Amino acid sequence: MKVTTTVLETRQLVKEWKKEGKSIGLVPTMGFLHEGHASLIARARKENDIVVVSDFVNPTQFGPNEDLEAYPRDFERDSALCESLGADLIFHPEPEEMYHDPCAFVSIDTLSETLCGKTRPIHFKGVCTVVSKLFHIVAPDRAYFGQKDAQQLAIIKKMVLDLNFDLEVIGCPIVREEDGLAKSSRNTYLSQEERKAALCLSKAVKKGQELIQAGCSAEAVLAPMRAIIEAEPLAKIDYVSMVDALTMQPVENVEKDVLVAMAVYIGKTRLIDNFSYEV
Ligand code: PAF
Repeated sequence: MKVTTTVLETRQLVKEWKKEGKSIGLVPTMGFLHEGHASLIARARKENDIVVVSDFVNPTQFGPNEDLEAYPRDFERDSALCESLGADLIFHPEPEEMYHDPCAFVSIDTLSETLCGKTRPIHFKGVCTVVSKLFHIVAPDRAYFGQKDAQQLAIIKKMVLDLNFDLEVIGCPIVREEDGLAKSSRNTYLSQEERKAALCLSKAVKKGQELIQAGCSAEAVLAPMRAIIEAEPLAKIDYVSMVDALTMQPVENVEKDVLVAMAVYIGKTRLIDNFSYEV
């Protein structure tokens, strides 16, 4: 497995692979890899000749009071995991390599204005910008993202469609701990007590799934979900919402495919979870 830190050396490798007619799968990550990332890399391994993992904590997607500095990092462990999963390259640039006093950004309207976009107003502009840059640098045939970040996935799919990126975006299922907590690099912030409290998210997801399958309207699904979270003293709801799966706009009734998504603070840690429902 190769490791690159510059755009130039990454492009040179990509050029050689393309000349040999090889297909490329890209798994963009911010590192501190867990089983969720491993499932993306494993899927990319099955579907492509070459697997590239990017490992970059992207500063432009963090707001001024967010956890950019504290975000967990362990490149040696990431690198060993990627190697064991058969990745061909990790692209691991420094922020100075990716950003030189930038003036050009990629942003997306409408889809980024609800859910996480309300609390994190610059987040998706940073995500779209870095993901566009990675698409230009790695020129993948397929790119893999987790459904845990469902709004991010919907936004990247729309960006690829609107800006004519020549690649396929593939969403992969949420990977959970045995007790239901969705895997996340941010789970490492939780104390023992908070880790227990965090189970209210997956419990709410389970309840929501039962209610939506029983044909309930949005509010009849969301109110009991909120009640489960509000019963947990360490939890504070940012949002629990039902939106159209494509536009990310709120819906009152389940008439089209929907996303039911939540962000909840457990202590100081903001966790997200969701489920989709297809009509
Ligand atoms: O989902 C993430 O880890 C990040 O938002 C991404 C897509 C790697 C962009 O920095």
